[in-house]
Amino acid sequence: MIEIASGHAAIDRFLAEDYERVRGMSSRFAVAICGHLIRRQAELGIGGALFEIGTFEGRFFIAMALGLAPGETALGIDRFDWPDAGIEGRFHVNCAAHGIARERDVAWKADSREITAADLRQQLRGRPVRFAHVDSHHSRECLTNDLELVEAVLHRDGIICLDDMLHPGYPLIVTAVYDYLARRPDMQLLCVIDREDIVAAAKYLICRRDVRERYEADLVAAFARFRYALNADMESYFALVLTPRPRLAEI
Ligand SMILES: C[S@@+](CC[C@H](N)C(=O)[O-])C[C@H]1O[C@@H](n2cnc3c(N)ncnc32)[C@H](O)[C@@H]1O
Repeated sequence: MIEIASGHAAIDRFLAEDYERVRGMSSRFAVAICGHLIRRQAELGIGGALFEIGTFEGRFFIAMALGLAPGETALGIDRFDWPDAGIEGRFHVNCAAHGIARERDVAWKADSREITAADLRQQLRGRPVRFAHVDSHHSRECLTNDLELVEAVLHRDGIICLDDMLHPGYPLIVTAVYDYLARRPDMQLLCVIDREDIVAAAKYLICRRDVRERYEADLVAAFARFRYALNADMESYFALVLTPRPRLAEI
């Protein structure tokens, strides 16, 4: 197991003891890095809601919600119809079993393609989203929709985390991200979190251009030993890459 921690006691306890017991697809490596950012946001006074599209049984959602600051809530959207109708119940059982108080976990059974930004704002009770994880249908059409939804509710200093980037099974979805970044020059790639495994794939972190360097410096300070020295070439800037086993080809 890769030795990595978020620095948040409850998240790290979950990652060490229970993470593998909740069925899901996010990598432990990536969740520790996201947990670190969620903790740092709270320390920096960045408040709001935590949000996921595609909760499945709650693996990422629970880790994220354990990082809620007092008074905040976490909202999770899922169709809750796959692989069977019992999934919504299992999501709530898992949340309760791992310490998420019922009033702080808000599940919304919906298809993200059928809701509007106004519906979402209402569910969030007007609170901006400081951290969003997008992990729903792996198509360009759905990811484009989900990015626009998240953008509509994102805190100024918010972070969007996108799952299964560069996944060999979904080679096209990353193009929706580049189209989005071309439409939104104020948003930039903050970090590529490399994959652990084909079932625990890479994530992208995205945020506003004017807060990217601050978050990047924070990630570098916390996770220097996982840094890929060459970074990610985004043509007009380089983005951070964190990888479980950093190395360069020998030449
Ligand atoms: C890969 S799983 C999510 C895994 C989870 N985030 C984790 O880290 O363990 C994808 C989930 O997205 C849900 N989903 C797919 N398309 C959706 C959509 N358009 N709206 C809401 N949920 C969707 C599926 O029902 C499924 O539970």
